[in-house]
Amino acid sequence: MPSLNSEQLHTLAARILQGAGVSATNADVVATELKDANLVGHDSHGVMRLMQYVDYINQGFIKPDAECEVLREESSFALLDGHFQFGQVAATKGLQLGIEKARAGGTATIFVRNCNHVGRLGSYSQKAAMQGLAAMMCVNAPGPGGVAPFGGIERRLGTNPISMSAPRGDNPLVLDMTSSATAEGKVRVALQKGDTLPEGWIIDSEGNPSVNPADLYGPPEGAIVPLGGAMGFKGFGLSVMIDVFGGILSGSGVCRDDLPRGANGVWMYFLDVEKFIAPAEYDALMETYVASIKSSRRAPGVDEILMAGEIELRRQADRMESGVPIPDETWRQLTELAKQVGTTIDDV
Ligand SMILES: NC(=O)c1ccc[n+]([C@@H]2O[C@H](COP(=O)([O-])OP(=O)(O)OC[C@H]3O[C@@H](n4cnc5c(N)ncnc54)[C@H](O)[C@@H]3O)[C@@H](O)[C@H]2O)c1
Repeated sequence: MPSLNSEQLHTLAARILQGAGVSATNADVVATELKDANLVGHDSHGVMRLMQYVDYINQGFIKPDAECEVLREESSFALLDGHFQFGQVAATKGLQLGIEKARAGGTATIFVRNCNHVGRLGSYSQKAAMQGLAAMMCVNAPGPGGVAPFGGIERRLGTNPISMSAPRGDNPLVLDMTSSATAEGKVRVALQKGDTLPEGWIIDSEGNPSVNPADLYGPPEGAIVPLGGAMGFKGFGLSVMIDVFGGILSGSGVCRDDLPRGANGVWMYFLDVEKFIAPAEYDALMETYVASIKSSRRAPGVDEILMAGEIELRRQADRMESGVPIPDETWRQLTELAKQVGTTIDDV
């Protein structure tokens, strides 16, 4: 199993994307998001996505030459049309515009419609937090989703994730989670590695609980269940509201059959912390709060209570040192893909 460092991951992704016709600037944005996802340990959103992305370029779902457009804009909000450029490119533009507007007016709302897969939401909300903004970001799946409603056994919803962040020096709080029991990519990773799944993630086509990742893909295909197990109506309810905000209010849509799996409707919200509370007071409250939480007596076998986003920062530090292991099957597929788009990754 090869192990690649940050620069190697970026180089391989940028080469493949440019080979597939993506401009150097946009390939850099997408390659950076992919390698960052690998570095924080979310391999399901890392370079293994390149197979899907190049396939979507070939099928015309991703339009590498499209320009992301601002359709409507006032001081406190903007509505963007991604025109099916890469989701990472559109979301990065939304992030920049949202931060600018929140700095000027205190808060800002950004919607992005016609957007491809943006990748890991926590990447964007963390960037906002590092600049002193509290942020929220939700994305829906305007196209086909893989999640059954609570009480249902057929796919009707996306994994509809939400991320919320709050500044805290170099260690911002970054909650970044699906409203389903798992991200679909984690099932795909298990399938590629030949692993079984934890219980409670998926059901097969008849609605039976399954730990076999192949049961999700079929045929006949199964479904991911909403977050919350027996209390899955909570994850289900959250997912529905993310469809309303990310899909219906943004104009991205829901239940669209003209889009592939992975397309996103985006809702972002930014709040400039210092417009609401003095920075020194905010910092002191956050430190008191985090210290109080971490000081709780711990369950057996637990060494430390972690705040949201902390595990990703730890994995990032580890993987910056040791590199990111790429499963043999993923490496084989990437090598093949590089050949297909007229480049090589053997020498990265
Ligand atoms: N663009 C899309 O369409 C899309 C769809 C689904 C998921 N995603 C992305 O997939 C990624 C994975 O989502 P997920 O729900 O599987 O994440 P996850 O279950 O790994 O983590 C969820 C949250 O829990 C926190 N956490 C994890 N372990 C913890 C612990 N021991 N103690 C305290 N906190 C802990 C993490 O910091 C994170 O904020 C996310 O980055 C998400 O944005 C994207």
